[in-house]
Amino acid sequence: MVRTGVEAGVERRAWSVTRRALVTGITGQDGSYLAELLLGKGYEVHGLIRRSSSFSTGRIDHLYQDPHAPDVRLFLHHSDLTDASSLVTWLNRIRPDEVYNLGAQSHVAVSFEMPEFTADTIAMGSLRLLEAVRHADWPIRFYQAGSSEMYGRVAETPQNERTPFRPRSPYAIAKVFAHWLTIQYRDAYGVYACNGILFNHESPRRGETFVTRKVTRGVAEILGGRAAKLYLGNLDARRDWGYAPEYVEAMWRMLQQPEPDDYVIATGEMHTVREFVATVFAQVGLDWERYVEIDPRYFRPAEVDELCGDASKARDVLGWQPSTNFERLIRVMLEADLFEAGLDPAGYLVPVVPGGS
Ligand code: NAP
Ligand code: GDD
Repeated sequence: MVRTGVEAGVERRAWSVTRRALVTGITGQDGSYLAELLLGKGYEVHGLIRRSSSFSTGRIDHLYQDPHAPDVRLFLHHSDLTDASSLVTWLNRIRPDEVYNLGAQSHVAVSFEMPEFTADTIAMGSLRLLEAVRHADWPIRFYQAGSSEMYGRVAETPQNERTPFRPRSPYAIAKVFAHWLTIQYRDAYGVYACNGILFNHESPRRGETFVTRKVTRGVAEILGGRAAKLYLGNLDARRDWGYAPEYVEAMWRMLQQPEPDDYVIATGEMHTVREFVATVFAQVGLDWERYVEIDPRYFRPAEVDELCGDASKARDVLGWQPSTNFERLIRVMLEADLFEAGLDPAGYLVPVVPGGS
């Protein structure tokens, strides 16, 4: 368990350490990797977390430090992107050098069921935070977690920073609002604000209802004898899947540049959901077609058929490149889910063929 807020000593500290970051969405996949990265770089990290009736800090519990320790550098505070006053209060108390706005209702399918809440957290949430940043009396560098979903019904492939947005979900529309708002605050008010346009990125910490994790976890359940089938939706959609820890490094690099700008972060490699599923099952020697059933409840009212990013600007300016390929990503996720299911990965994973892809 991680202690929060004033209780964790925010009032008592002398702000003497080098750099201080404020992270919304710190309990999520990206927030947890970003917190690790920033702590590793010597930052003092402040995360805003939502009050919940059960603990939501599972992904960052390993970063917990006793708040009484002299060198504690991770602090958590209760807030919510729908609560402007708490955002303003924490920003002014913490006085961060960098703000990473990762908080969101981030599930595209759920955004069709909860469009108002999705827009409130993503669109209005970014507005609330940017307003707080604009009125701060010290310099702040701001990162907005943009998404390849904004490209929607894609105008061209691959997509780059100049590709028009044609969003296809309440989630994506809210992200487009946040994207242009970030540019507006940069242009109109001189705020150092960057948009990362990140393509899908996954890891063992990925939420269990996103398709990649659902599949790697589902296979572990099948092997463990706890499930017989895996029910999925549209297998024809194509995505550009990368490895989350590498993507948070790109976020940080964006905020270290002399000038703020917007960057696509992607692998440039595209696969269908079907290929992802087939590769996961093949890595444990199973034929996916014997286990996977299509359940139309997982179809979306509108689908994004293909996403493939051109991250050459990030390579040239940030020196950022992905290094974990599709097969390796699947391996890492499968190993973790087999382990979590109480299975020894070595007993199930088919050995990788040397030189094979
Ligand atoms: P995630 O695992 O779903 O995490 C979302 C985070 O937002 C969680 O910490 C969640 O808190 C928090 N949150 C939700 N509603 C909130 C609210 N009203 N106020 C404050 N915080 C709230 O998402 P992720 O994969 O780490 O993605 C991080 C960000 O990048 C998101 O903005 C997402 O839309 C964006 N993005 C992700 C990808 C990707 O492939 N992963 C690609 C492009 C963009 P709880 O733990 O309490 O739910
Ligand atoms: N979630 C889910 N569950 N998706 C499924 C399923 C299923 O059972 N079956 C097929 N799919 C398809 C979806 O229809 C979609 O085309 C694709 O798998 C990927 O779905 P998700 O893993 O839910 O991710 P996403 O691409 O919709 O959104 C993710 O990536 C975005 C970046 O492009 C999220 O992380 C977003 O927050 C992020 O912005």
